[in-house]
Amino acid sequence: MTIRIPIARPELGPEESAAVAEVLASGMLISGRVVAEFEAGLAERCGRRHCVAVANGTAALELALRALGVDGGEVLVPALSWPSPGHVAEWVGATPRLVDIDPGTWNGTADALSAARTDATRCAIAIDQFGVPAEHPAIAAALAGLPIVEDAACAIGSTLDGRPCGSFGDVSCLSFHPRKVVTTGEGGACLTDDDGLAEELRILRNHGQRAVGDFARSGPNERLTEMQAAIGLVQLGRLDGMIRRRREICDAYREALPGLGLAGQAHPAGAAVNEQTFGVVVAAGMDRDAVIASLQAQGIGAGILSYALTRIGSLAHLGQSAPTAEDVVDRGLALPVYPAMADADVADVIAALAVAVG
Ligand SMILES: Cc1ncc(COP(=O)(O)O)c(C=O)c1O
Repeated sequence: MTIRIPIARPELGPEESAAVAEVLASGMLISGRVVAEFEAGLAERCGRRHCVAVANGTAALELALRALGVDGGEVLVPALSWPSPGHVAEWVGATPRLVDIDPGTWNGTADALSAARTDATRCAIAIDQFGVPAEHPAIAAALAGLPIVEDAACAIGSTLDGRPCGSFGDVSCLSFHPRKVVTTGEGGACLTDDDGLAEELRILRNHGQRAVGDFARSGPNERLTEMQAAIGLVQLGRLDGMIRRRREICDAYREALPGLGLAGQAHPAGAAVNEQTFGVVVAAGMDRDAVIASLQAQGIGAGILSYALTRIGSLAHLGQSAPTAEDVVDRGLALPVYPAMADADVADVIAALAVAVG
């Protein structure tokens, strides 16, 4: 089986190569000017006072919880996700409370999150799943007094009522994994407006050092390299163009869905979405795996959509359930989206999808 149109492809070119070559020639590979510039660019883009670049999005979430002092109790986590938000809650010593998602937006809602809050709740992670903003103002109001971490791993460049994703949490977290809209290979960032939290995040990512040799905590090494930041800076400069093309592709998919009997992810009112992932759910009773297999046999790199954290092995011991997340995962698949897709590729995906569901 040859995949002609992959599910994702990072948009990398000579500018990234030149930026990395410049770093290599400088001899300064970590903790230098380029990471600082990337952090400043991200903070500006997300409308935050501080950005602390880290090794990946999972580290960003873990350090966010640690900086907020979460070391026990429960952490609210929407149940449809890559496992990281659930895993990091456990790493810091808390119990993830998995909250079911909205069947339209596939995000945790203010109502569901506040209904899951107990006296033991220490923090909520609000995920902008696949780049679609969660209803943050309503969540903040419903969870007043509770620290909120925004998992904006997928959501750089998305906005809600004009306000950028990455600006909504006490700490907001980004990922620069190759399937994200901006990539550095591996990479992540924490964003905050709080000077004290920013300082703690900087200490935590750097072996717990407050200053050289002043080890205030036993912390990990979660630094981003100068080479990664150099790639990220170039990518950030191209973000709007990359999102524009992603939107064209996804608009074409959206137009085709009703005719194919498929449903996509709803965008809340006021949201402008970066289209990090284009997910669809097949009709109840249709064999999702057969649809994916058919697409792949036609050279289209479709894959499963995501995970229900209630059902992954690492969190099965929690014994929790989330029927909507489980249903979306069972019926969901992701279609190719990347800026270099030609219009003919998009048409080919739609045609292949018609065959697959037909
Ligand atoms: C919602 C969400 N949170 C966290 C992560 C973790 O990011 P990373 O892969 O950079 O560790 C991902 C990555 O796929 C994600 O989709």
